[in-house]
Amino acid sequence: MDSLFGEEAPAREAIAEGATLLRGFANVSAQRLMDDLAKIVAVAPFRHMVTPGGFRMSVAMTNCGQAGWVSDAKGYRYDAGDPVTRMAWPAMPPSFHQLAASAAREAGYPGFEADACLINRYQPGARLTLHQDRNERDYRAPIVSVSLGLPAVFLFGGASRKDRPRRMLLASGDVVVWGGATRLAYHGIASLKDGDHPLTGRCRINLTFRKAL
Ligand code: SIN
Ligand code: FE2
Repeated sequence: MDSLFGEEAPAREAIAEGATLLRGFANVSAQRLMDDLAKIVAVAPFRHMVTPGGFRMSVAMTNCGQAGWVSDAKGYRYDAGDPVTRMAWPAMPPSFHQLAASAAREAGYPGFEADACLINRYQPGARLTLHQDRNERDYRAPIVSVSLGLPAVFLFGGASRKDRPRRMLLASGDVVVWGGATRLAYHGIASLKDGDHPLTGRCRINLTFRKAL
């Protein structure tokens, strides 16, 4: 049906083969996700990890689920425990798990069971350079990436770092799902612009769900 208000971004947008942008998909659950996030962060605080090359990442990170993504001098990997607190990562809340499964289903990946959720916090100026998500054991499962708070420019490239990436503005509630032919696509986030968002304040939160184990 045509919108009374003319042009509107479609709710489901194909980005590339196997990759879909679901605009606003997480809006109904956004406040619940933030409430559950506060409980996670109380146990496993945000921290700036260091790359194997010795650089402090501008994005602050934490995790929930059976395994958490970590980076340090020894490399990138998934770990069952939080190296800062030496405890297991907090369990993945049902709100997180259900949102990831329903977004994956909507994008054509039924049966997605995330066991790891990397939580990224971008403050103004923070960015994530082009990279592939390749520390997971099995590439058959997609990546489900949820944006909350301040908008950010998402870069979505190809199988080679040299492929010129598409640039997409991701708003709060947007969910990107990629898998299949684009499971190993290079992607990143351009330097975050300053702003203030009613949901998150002066930052962007990204939840990246994976089947890591
Ligand atoms: C990531 O690639 O881990 C995060 C992407 C994002 O923040 O949207
Ligand atoms: Fe990534």
